[in-house]
Order: sequence, then C-alpha cells, then structure tokens
Amino acid sequence: MRDVKRQDARAALLGWYDAHARDLPWRVAPAARSAGVRPDPYAVWLSEVMLQQTTVSAVRERFGRFMARWPDVATLAAAADAEVMAEWAGLGYYARARNLLKCARTIADELGGSFPQTRAELLVLPGIGAYTAAAIAAIAFDRPETVVDGNVERVMARLFDIETPLPAAKRKLAALADGLTPLERPGDHAQAMMDLGATICTPARPACGICPLASFCAGRAAGRAAELPRRTPKLTKPVRHGIAYVARRSDGALLLETRPPRGLLGGMLGWPGSGWSDAPEAKPPLDADWRRLPGEVRHTFTHFHLRLGVEIAKVRLSAAPERGAFRPAAEFDPAALPTLMRKVWSLAAPAFGRAGRRAQAARSLPPNRP
Ligand code: ADE
Repeated sequence: MRDVKRQDARAALLGWYDAHARDLPWRVAPAARSAGVRPDPYAVWLSEVMLQQTTVSAVRERFGRFMARWPDVATLAAAADAEVMAEWAGLGYYARARNLLKCARTIADELGGSFPQTRAELLVLPGIGAYTAAAIAAIAFDRPETVVDGNVERVMARLFDIETPLPAAKRKLAALADGLTPLERPGDHAQAMMDLGATICTPARPACGICPLASFCAGRAAGRAAELPRRTPKLTKPVRHGIAYVARRSDGALLLETRPPRGLLGGMLGWPGSGWSDAPEAKPPLDADWRRLPGEVRHTFTHFHLRLGVEIAKVRLSAAPERGAFRPAAEFDPAALPTLMRKVWSLAAPAFGRAGRRAQAARSLPPNRP
C-alpha cells in the first residue's frame, strides 16, 4: 500500500472506531479518551491477560468480579493464591493466573506499585509476553506499539492479500501491521484493529459490505478475502486417557487435592487421579470400594484430547487418604474447579444419590463437551 493510501486507511479505521467502538468494561471509549481520560493500566493488563485464549464474552463478567474484589495491583498482590485461582476457575490456561499474581507482587514489591510504560520494561515482568507488552504500552500509555493477535493477522492477510499460509506468514503479517501503526492514537488504533477483526473482518463470512477498509482491501479486490488467511493443516491431536477418583465421606465431605504448581491445571483444585497417558495405571488416593461409572469425561487441551474415566467411592468418617484432603460439603463450590474437574463432578454427583444431586443443582455445570 502506498503511503497516501496508508494514511487514508488509518483514518478510515479510526473514524469507524469513533462511531462503533465496542463498549467494554476495561476500555476508555474514544470520545472520553480524546477528552483526556486515561485508561487504568491495571485494568488494561488484567483484561489483556484474561483475553489471551479466552473470548470477550467469557471475560466480561469475570473481569468485573476481579475488579470488584481486587480493584488495584496492591490488593491483588496481597490476595491469597487459592482465592485468585478459584476466581480464575473455568477461564483455562491456569499458568496465566499464577503469573498474574507473580506479576502483581513484582509490581507492588519492586516497582512501587506502578506499571512500567514501555514495551521493553513490561516484557521483563512475569507472564507478560510480546503481545501483552505491546497491548499495555499501546492501550494504557499510548505508545506506538503494534499489537498482533489472531484477529490482526487475519485483517492483514486480507488487506494485503497474503496467500502464504500461517504460521509461516506470521512475521510478514506482523511487519505489515507495524507499517500501519500510527504515531497518533496508537492505543485506539490497536483497539480498532481488534474490534474490526472481532466484528467485521470475522473468520467466516466477513461483513465486507460495511467494512471501513473495504476500498483498501487487496484480498477483497481479488475476490478471496473470506479464504484468507490460509493455514498449514494442523497435525491431529493425540488422545490421552486417565482416571479421576471422587470419594465422598459419610458426612458429605469430598476428597480434593491442590494440584502441583507446575504443569496442566497447576495450582488448581481437583479430584485426585491417575496420570494421563495411552494406558494410565490406576492410582486411587485411598483404599475403598471404587465403582467405575458408565460414560467418560471428554476435554480438549491445547495439545491433546483427554478421556477420563470416573470412579467413585463412599467412605467412612475414619478414611485416611494418601493424597488430598476431605473438604466439608458446605465449603465445596464446583465453580471453584477448573472446567475439566467440574465435568467430572457433573458425572459423579448424580451417582451419589440425593445429596450429590442437591450439591450439583446448587450450581450451574458445564455440559460434557470436549
Ligand atoms: N481482545 C484482546 N484484547 C482486546 C481489547 N483490548 N479489546 C478488545 N478485544 C480484545
């Protein structure tokens, strides 16, 4: 794109954003921004970490709850790990929550409670990678940094008609996005790109008829915008198997364990289980009369599908588990479990009869979908 057209494209995008910016709880709307309202870097950081690999609709409510409970970096830094992990439950990718706490504590303890403003300084902080550093620098501090996520890659592939498939095209698409980043209003530009990708330049059936960049779009001119970006086919994910053990004591207490801090679902609460592999070995957490339930739990992680068999046991008050600890029924909140473990509970609860069903009905549970 020639320089003149580039200027026109930027102006068209910002004009569209001024009229159509999504109303998001962590966002300072463009009119308020131009009137001098500054975004809260804490809110920008928290929202960007939450939005990694999670949709805006899933994050909206959770963001509000986090902000109400921990309104600034100092309160979050002082929070108990288990409470933050429980509040994160269901959002997935739990390393993000562990790093969120580490980052809050670094800022509170070592940086006097203030977020650094440059991309380079932000990058040093726990859990802040290239994407998040650029997003915070641009959105919170109006630095001319280029924010590239999947949405922006798609917009670039179409705007410049790039037929090289992803992931090979990543650098090229990032360079093209960089070439569009303005020195004026870079924060609004970054957010406009994200909104365009989420609402107009969507993966399937883009709404080119109402797109502010339609007249600049080489992919559209070539009649293939909707086919872009091309992708090198992914290898299929392997399937792993495992067993989850749900033990209920005669007083209603349930056996749960906090998972080791590293690894999948690290630091989260869950049912004790076997390893996850082709052929897992049984590993019950205590001697009991274990009963295998019909059906299985299916869940998909980034790199594999998991199929979990569920075994349940009713045990005596004196039962002494080798792993985990019994939690009183009154303290058990399925909403504090990661989605996989909630799926296990939704299979197990009815099998415990009335008491289990009552506990289950108290909360909404996710459907058992992979
Ligand atoms: N997706 C990721 N970050 C976003 C933001 N700041 N605004 C809208 N959508 C986003």
